[in-house]
Amino acid sequence: MALEVFLFRSLFRNLRTEMNKGRVTYGSDMVLWLAGLVFHISFFIVLIRHLRFFLEPVPAMINMIDALDGFVQVGVPHLLLTGVLLVAAGGFLFYRRINNSQVRHISLPADYFPLLLIIGIALSGIIMRYFVKVDIVSVKALTLGLVSLSPRVPAGIGVIFYIHLFLISTLLVYFPFSKLMHMGGVFLSPTRNLANNNREVRHVNPWNYDVKVHTYAAYEDEFREKMKEAGIPVEKE
Ligand code: HEM
Repeated sequence: MALEVFLFRSLFRNLRTEMNKGRVTYGSDMVLWLAGLVFHISFFIVLIRHLRFFLEPVPAMINMIDALDGFVQVGVPHLLLTGVLLVAAGGFLFYRRINNSQVRHISLPADYFPLLLIIGIALSGIIMRYFVKVDIVSVKALTLGLVSLSPRVPAGIGVIFYIHLFLISTLLVYFPFSKLMHMGGVFLSPTRNLANNNREVRHVNPWNYDVKVHTYAAYEDEFREKMKEAGIPVEKE
């Protein structure tokens, strides 16, 4: 699980399927693995760094991460690498979705939307930090007001901050209903740490509405003889 969560082990082992001169060939897809990893790790570090807006005094650990992330010491305020990497990796993942015909074929609005939203959040943050500066002291007064349940809106914070905040709020509202729940779902993987017995036992979500389903048991009853003929293992003889 640790390798899966921290290094995306299954994505590392994932193969790319392609047609080459009329034959199906398989190759590794390290670029996807690397872009996925950079995207997630950058996102995580950006979030941790943002704690400086919500905590007073700012813990030394956060200042250290900030200093490490800005080690290239370019520009004023200094360039934070993970913010830029987040946009770059997100941009690549989006480009891959529209450029690769197989991936485009299986992509839904629910795949494009969160990607564009996260890129939008990071871009508005970058614009705010390096180009259209806002008053960070007022931003901190606003965020501390929110976390101490005594909200106030200091005057004079630029509109770009509210764009950033609106996109983040949209992400938070959208999160629990979206594929982003893979963040928790990875810890409930049937093939890793659950019983993985869904052919023997039908696990029904207790809050499902009544849906007409074709259970595996019914499917096997219907096709048992044909499955046996084809050498496919069956649950009941
Ligand atoms: C999904 C959550 C968020 C993401 C992905 C995100 C992303 C970013 C990025 C990439 C930057 C550019 C600078 C950097 O690399 O840190 C940035 C800057 C900034 N973000 Fe966020 N952000 C998030 C949440 C928030 C929240 C909740 C607030 C405050 C309410 C906030 C306030 C700011 C401010 C004030 C800046 C400018 C920083 C500066 O001038 O140093 N962000 N954000």
